[in-house]
Amino acid sequence: MTEFHTVAKVGQIPEGEGRAFQIVGRLIAVFQRQGQYFAMNDACPHMGASLAEGYLDGEIVHCPWHAWRFCIKDGVWVDNPKSKTCNPTYETRVIGDEIQVAIPVA
Ligand code: FES
Repeated sequence: MTEFHTVAKVGQIPEGEGRAFQIVGRLIAVFQRQGQYFAMNDACPHMGASLAEGYLDGEIVHCPWHAWRFCIKDGVWVDNPKSKTCNPTYETRVIGDEIQVAIPVA
């Protein structure tokens, strides 16, 4: 089961960029691409850099520290897609002008 949490208003995350938000104890990166929002764990699985501060190239975010690349849609580590390394992603939605992210309920 998940619960949606409002993280920002439409317009607060610029096109092609990410922002990090603290949501019920998790640090989540939310990216905007072509009017859609994508959410994943902010901490890079490699050494914990903020992926929200990475470079977004299409659907791929490049980690700002060592340039590992992750798909913002499904979290796959695109440098090594057969690896089990994957960054967890979260469902998003827009209600009115609020961007919301679904977080699993413990
Ligand atoms: S911390 Fe992200 S690639 Fe190293």
